[in-house]
Amino acid sequence: MNRTIALFLGMAAAWLPALSRAESCVPARGRQVFESKCAMCHTAKREQGHLVGPNLSGVVGRAVGKATGFQYSPALADAKDTWDTKTLDLFLKAPAAARPGTTMPFTGIRNDADRTAVTCFLGTQTQ
Ligand code: HEC
Repeated sequence: MNRTIALFLGMAAAWLPALSRAESCVPARGRQVFESKCAMCHTAKREQGHLVGPNLSGVVGRAVGKATGFQYSPALADAKDTWDTKTLDLFLKAPAAARPGTTMPFTGIRNDADRTAVTCFLGTQTQ
């Protein structure tokens, strides 16, 4: 292989994952997903408290099932881990499979980009 082409391919391979990562974190799209699929049960504004589901302000980095004043199912209340982009992604893909026994009445978001966007949006919601 011609060295220039090899160099170009090497650079492209190094860049593409970075590009797709950057593109998949679009808070505006995440806000839309949140409004259409989550907002009937959750708010991500701290002062609005809990609705049918727990308040999601600051949920990224928060211990699972530990928001004060919300009655969680044992599936979440007894969890020992933390919500991060990976655990949220798994949960939002298939809540009942990821956390057996959860009472979140939601079948999940199948579209990978929508899930990434809503997780990214939640990461920006800390007020
Ligand atoms: C029909 C109501 C409903 C919908 C829709 C819903 N949730 Fe929930 N959610 C709940 C309930 C109820 C719980 C508590 C579940 C439990 O205790 O097992 C919960 C729990 C959660 C938790 C755990 C929070 C914590 O403090 O540990 C996260 C994160 C979450 N939901 C995110 C979402 C997102 C993001 C969406 C939209 C894609 C969504 N939920 C859609 C009702 C809902």
